[in-house]
Amino acid sequence: MKVGRLTLSDRAASGVYEDASGPEIERVIQQLFAEPLEFVRVLRPDDRAQIEAELIRLADDEGCPLIVTTGGTGPSPRDVTPEATRAVIEKELPGFGEVMRLHSYVKVRTAILSRALAGVRGRSLIINLPGKPTAIAECLPLVAPAIAECLDHIAGFRPRLANS
Ligand code: MTE
Repeated sequence: MKVGRLTLSDRAASGVYEDASGPEIERVIQQLFAEPLEFVRVLRPDDRAQIEAELIRLADDEGCPLIVTTGGTGPSPRDVTPEATRAVIEKELPGFGEVMRLHSYVKVRTAILSRALAGVRGRSLIINLPGKPTAIAECLPLVAPAIAECLDHIAGFRPRLANS
């Protein structure tokens, strides 16, 4: 399964700190799916035009059935990942963000500040995650069964889940 993983962070993209969230997406997805995986790795600043262009490239040109973003989902002026995602998807899937926020809120009261969303573009599922590396391991396992089901509907194959 080809997975696009896109880190959105002004500071990581300019080298102020190292991107820990992108590698964390790979680690967690490798744990969740019993499929051979190929990752397309992208690191960009919080720039809406660049994010939209990368999402379109990963979906339409790279043909990634699954695209996971991290970062840029909060309330700050530079946080534009949900806006960029909404601009390129055809169908929004609100359940992903709802469940991730609700589950995370039990542990982290600030989880409701994330505006993460998910949706379908063509044969690709795009999922936003918050930027903190810990949020990735908290959120992705919750939605893994829905990822498998969704890809069955839109991409014509159902990735096998580990431990199922
Ligand atoms: N969700 C989880 N599971 N764990 C977290 O630490 N941080 C929250 C929220 N969601 C958090 C979380 C905070 S503090 C913010 S500001 C938002 O995600 C948005 O983060 P982002 O702008 O890096 O995407």
